[in-house]
Amino acid sequence: MAELDQDLVDALRKARKIAVLSGAGLSAESGVPTFRGPEGLWKNHDPTELATAEAFRRDPALVWEFYNWRREKVLSVEPNGAHRALVDIEARVSECTHITQNVDGLSQRAGARRLIELHGNLFATICFDCRRPRTDLPEIVPHPSYCECGGLMRPGVVWFGESVPAFETALAALPGTDLFLVVGTSALVQPAASLAMIAKQSGAHVAEFNLEPTPLTASLDFAVHGPVGTTLPALMAAAFH
Ligand code: OAD
Repeated sequence: MAELDQDLVDALRKARKIAVLSGAGLSAESGVPTFRGPEGLWKNHDPTELATAEAFRRDPALVWEFYNWRREKVLSVEPNGAHRALVDIEARVSECTHITQNVDGLSQRAGARRLIELHGNLFATICFDCRRPRTDLPEIVPHPSYCECGGLMRPGVVWFGESVPAFETALAALPGTDLFLVVGTSALVQPAASLAMIAKQSGAHVAEFNLEPTPLTASLDFAVHGPVGTTLPALMAAAFH
């Protein structure tokens, strides 16, 4: 791991308000596959056949097979040191909001409280027609399952081409942020990725934690390259222990 920048350690120690944007890299060390890259989900699966409303209309059984498989995967893994380090930050800073693109629920399982799930939750099930949730279904959802309105139940996640209702809440969490952490995201999916630059333009220091550079890196204040299960706990240790 690269040496931690002392300015970043100081920025964390002094910050009164922190916001975090996380992506699939946060859960990678738990064993949840990321989306892009050689081992990524979108390498072997076409997102337009699995993660769009059109795909669901065309072949709901196939979409449910994919999401039930992802549910099974997530149920068999545990939060890692990076999830716990972010919970630790939340406990030490007066105000901290964690905005995640992840749908796996691992941050909640690690104890996150102020969490905005931008892309929904893998374990939510909503009606395709009226969007009403059903909470009485088993974790592995039998297909077809129906809503009381007669509509088919679908995964409660945001698909490509759909609006991101929680984005406004995420934006509202940014003003006054001293430090914005971008954790394990390729920063390729909008509107999530735009949050980092919006935070920077409104005066936050922005630090990225990733295995490799992203399209954002050159515009940010700090970049820490390495696995977040190591780099985030190391940053916490340097700032607070
Ligand atoms: P990606 O798969 O696009 O990117 C994961 C990022 O994590 C990459 O930049 C990796 O380099 C980095 N990474 C992987 N393992 C890491 C580790 N151990 N430590 C640090 N970094 C690591 O995932 P997201 O950016 O989350 O949306 O993708 C954004 C959205 O695209 C997802 O929410 C999903 C996807 O399609 C929808 O399904 C709507």
